[in-house]
Amino acid sequence: MHKMDPNPIPQFKAALASAEAAGIELYNAMSVSTIRADGMPSTRVVLLKDVDERGFVFYTNMNSPKVTDIKSNANVSLCVWWSKLLEQIRIEGVAEPVADEEADTYFATRDRGSQVSAWASQQSEIMGSREELERAVEACMQRFDGGPVPRPPHWSGLRVVPTRIEFWYGKADRLHERYLYTKAESGGWDITLLQP
Ligand SMILES: Cc1cc2nc3c(=O)[nH]c(=O)nc-3n(C[C@H](O)[C@H](O)[C@H](O)COP(=O)(O)O)c2cc1C
Repeated sequence: MHKMDPNPIPQFKAALASAEAAGIELYNAMSVSTIRADGMPSTRVVLLKDVDERGFVFYTNMNSPKVTDIKSNANVSLCVWWSKLLEQIRIEGVAEPVADEEADTYFATRDRGSQVSAWASQQSEIMGSREELERAVEACMQRFDGGPVPRPPHWSGLRVVPTRIEFWYGKADRLHERYLYTKAESGGWDITLLQP
């Protein structure tokens, strides 16, 4: 049996560090599910960029469909799966925008190509041709002309403030270990075991 931390955040951070140490490519990739206005769920992969007691942060285009969904229903679920470790972690919570300063600080760490792409791409809009995007990239390159690239107003981060976190550890004979943390009224976490 795993010895679980009473707090799921250090438990998660240790798991993330193990995934990185195991050499898992894009170990910080996670699926994010949102609920569309028509009630249909929608899932895509993003990269987890920060995690602490406040929640789980990813960055994206704030005009994208996922953020449109979140504006009308802030409930989201996240899921990571590391096949090499036989571990799945599911997180449910409520998404909120990160502070502008926090997004600025992270944006400044991105390589220039990614910074320019954030300006050039109208994420998930229909595009006539690849050349259209390439022209937009070229126009942004000229606009910033070798100087610093500021964070675009439409690009920022979302923090998922967790209310439920489940750690799943794969075991032989399908007798997997599952630990569900639920946020208690007191602000602490309750842990329950789930059947595999
Ligand atoms: C490994 C991987 C990492 C990704 N990371 C991000 C990310 O951090 N932010 C992001 O906006 N999209 C990321 N994407 C693209 C999204 O999956 C998705 O295509 C895009 O955000 C548009 O989603 P939407 O139309 O549902 O808003 C990533 C895709 C993959 C496969």
